[in-house]
Amino acid sequence: MEWRLVVNMTPLLMLNILLEKGAPIELAELLVELADSVREISVAIVTTSTGKVGTKNAFGEEQAAMDVRAEEILQAHMKTCPFVGAFSSEELDHLEVVRDEGKYSVYYDPLDGSSLLDVNCSVGTIVGVYEGNEVIGQTPGDQVAALYGQYGPRTTVMLTFGQGVMEFTLHEGAWVLSEASVQLNEEKKYFAPGNLRACGDRPDYYALIQSYIEGKYTLRYSGGMVPDINHILKKGSGIFMYPGTPDNPDAKLRLLYECGPMAFLMEQAGGAASNGRISIMDLKIESLVQRTPIFIGGAAQVEDAVSRLKA
Ligand code: AHG
Ligand code: MN
Ligand code: MN
Repeated sequence: MEWRLVVNMTPLLMLNILLEKGAPIELAELLVELADSVREISVAIVTTSTGKVGTKNAFGEEQAAMDVRAEEILQAHMKTCPFVGAFSSEELDHLEVVRDEGKYSVYYDPLDGSSLLDVNCSVGTIVGVYEGNEVIGQTPGDQVAALYGQYGPRTTVMLTFGQGVMEFTLHEGAWVLSEASVQLNEEKKYFAPGNLRACGDRPDYYALIQSYIEGKYTLRYSGGMVPDINHILKKGSGIFMYPGTPDNPDAKLRLLYECGPMAFLMEQAGGAASNGRISIMDLKIESLVQRTPIFIGGAAQVEDAVSRLKA
């Protein structure tokens, strides 16, 4: 109720808020375009089938109807936004160049967590923005902006352009600034252990999980990277992990479409993200389909986990 009053008292548009915080105009316009895509996806998700469609994405994974629909929505926005030169996604097998002179290129996972659609759990959209049309050879540290949208009971966007992290909430069709500065505080002990199957091959990961249990940490794991990372950012602490195994050292999650944007957001909130050896922000992008293990969350917790794992 109090939040509603605040909403009525601050009828600022997302664009104005971004400009006021110092975003360059073209980048602010692009971020609003991306938020608009998230808004459209939040509407489509309510009526689109939760089933699969029989096709596969760039990673050989079966596509859900909503993976395809979210991709269509984002593509339409990227093609019309005059500041976008190129884009690629988890659902595309190439870099789509739309304008040679475009200022930015955009890399996204249109629908993260599609296996959670049929059980009606939270899913998301993850986006990273780079300058120029060539991302190969850059690092996630070169991103100029990143955001994710979360489709939960409410639709929210968490975004950064390098001046901290802001959260917007979709309210009666408009984006309202719901948290001006999202910051970690390291006060509580949460853990989100992805790829627990790795414990069989990795006694070090098993021992780390056991230590969290013995240390009375609280488990918060949804099976979706967006809500799991959102939990850390909103509660102010915790760690999300998706380690590799000797047979599959790079694990599952994608550097460009998932881990890079999340690392930028987490660092801007005072946290950290590592691949087990170095910061995700320093990893050289060698291909559009590159994967990486990830340990992301509170800086001290990430450092502690990484130091106890034999990378
Ligand atoms: P996507 O639906 O885009 O393929 O990604 C899902 C990701 C991520 O959201 C989650 O943390 C992870 O996959 C879960 O992986 P497992 O199914 O291996 O547990
Ligand atoms: Mn994903
Ligand atoms: Mn996806």
